Amino acid sequence: MNTETPTAAGSGRSSYIRKGPGPFWERLALPDAGERVMHIGKAMVLLRHEDCMAVLRDPRFTQWNFAQVERNPAIDRRFVERRRQAFLSMEGVDHQRLRRLAMVALSPQVVDRHRPRMRALMDDLIDAVLPAGRMEAVGELLERYPLPVICGVLGVPPADIPFFSQTALDWTRWMYGGPAAVPAALAAHEAMDDYMSRLVAGRTQIDGDDVISGLLRAESEGDRLSREEVIHTAASLIVPGLETTFSSLGSGLYLFAQHPEQWERLAADPALLPGAVEEILRFAPVGPTLERIANDDVEVNGLAVPRDTQVVVALAAVNRDPTLFPDPHRFDITRRPQRLHMTFGGGRHTCLGLHLARAELQEALGCLRRRLTRLALDGETTWSIPLGFQGPRRMPMRFAAR
Ligand code: HEM
Repeated sequence: MNTETPTAAGSGRSSYIRKGPGPFWERLALPDAGERVMHIGKAMVLLRHEDCMAVLRDPRFTQWNFAQVERNPAIDRRFVERRRQAFLSMEGVDHQRLRRLAMVALSPQVVDRHRPRMRALMDDLIDAVLPAGRMEAVGELLERYPLPVICGVLGVPPADIPFFSQTALDWTRWMYGGPAAVPAALAAHEAMDDYMSRLVAGRTQIDGDDVISGLLRAESEGDRLSREEVIHTAASLIVPGLETTFSSLGSGLYLFAQHPEQWERLAADPALLPGAVEEILRFAPVGPTLERIANDDVEVNGLAVPRDTQVVVALAAVNRDPTLFPDPHRFDITRRPQRLHMTFGGGRHTCLGLHLARAELQEALGCLRRRLTRLALDGETTWSIPLGFQGPRRMPMRFAAR
């Protein structure tokens, strides 16, 4: 995610998730107990919480896939320059400053004001599938949810939402499609920047709850964001919350179809919702790895990492570490772990949208558990390719109205 994704098209990533049928979490190359590092090709795959966090905090490690783009002379320099303005490729004080200001605009208090609209959106989507008693859950329900949410949070007029569907797809293609996908990705970045600069220019009232107003207010309160920074920040917030959010929800529904007793417990007790969301995120992390490159010879807690090594932070393995999560392969929404999962990353680039993501997942699941019962898989589920975000891409389900 450059901003948009925690994933990367590196060799370490693709060998870490095997191709094949069934949910992705059953195809991950999880380590033997006590193992600290795996070597996959030339990549070092780090498996322990303390090593992963040390890498994510250390500025000598930067984004692997941005480094591949930057070092490839065949790639249009305009694209490289634009990507430098994206959160995940930024480093140092500029990055920290931008994060601080964006975090104010995406605080839990701001996000909470958008919860009623999230519920209304999910309820409308459920209304449309309810009479049939079956649905293709990804296409008919889950995929349609995050884009209107984030557009509302940013203050984008509803009529403009269709513009973002295609732009968001092209925006991320470079991460999986290599140099051939760069022209479409560059065009998507330019189209998004154009759109956002018109939206920002037209925003005369900046006292609203929307995030663009929040960013503009931050601009007028001393520590200023330039207009260009507001535009790039707003453009960077659309894409990272789309596939991540609907993939997590899809994996969650798949898990609940396999564990109907937990669905019924959740239905009976809404207080279990926050814990259920954390357990889905832990058990089925949409980005099972984060990839970094070592820009120097570095020692990580005594482990030598030579310059230019691809380092894979195997957060899915950390999420299944039995010393942190007892009986880790059990899906249990009542789990109260001592330590949080790593699905939102950690350190300098920790997910900026995590409050929003949590609220979206809680509100969507809250509506679904209130209205649907006897949730079951109803045909073959197909899953994303190893290089992308992980989750179901087609998932026929049946259910009864509660
Ligand atoms: C279930 C949903 C989500 C998951 C699992 C997720 C996960 C992540 C992870 C792991 C990172 C760090 C990537 C790295 O260090 O390489 C990240 C970064 C980021 N995410 Fe999310 N994300 C989610 C939703 C969102 C949403 C809804 C937004 C939009 C507001 C968002 C905005 C961002 C941004 C801007 C960054 C870059 C932060 C930086 O580089 O400083 N994410 N996300």
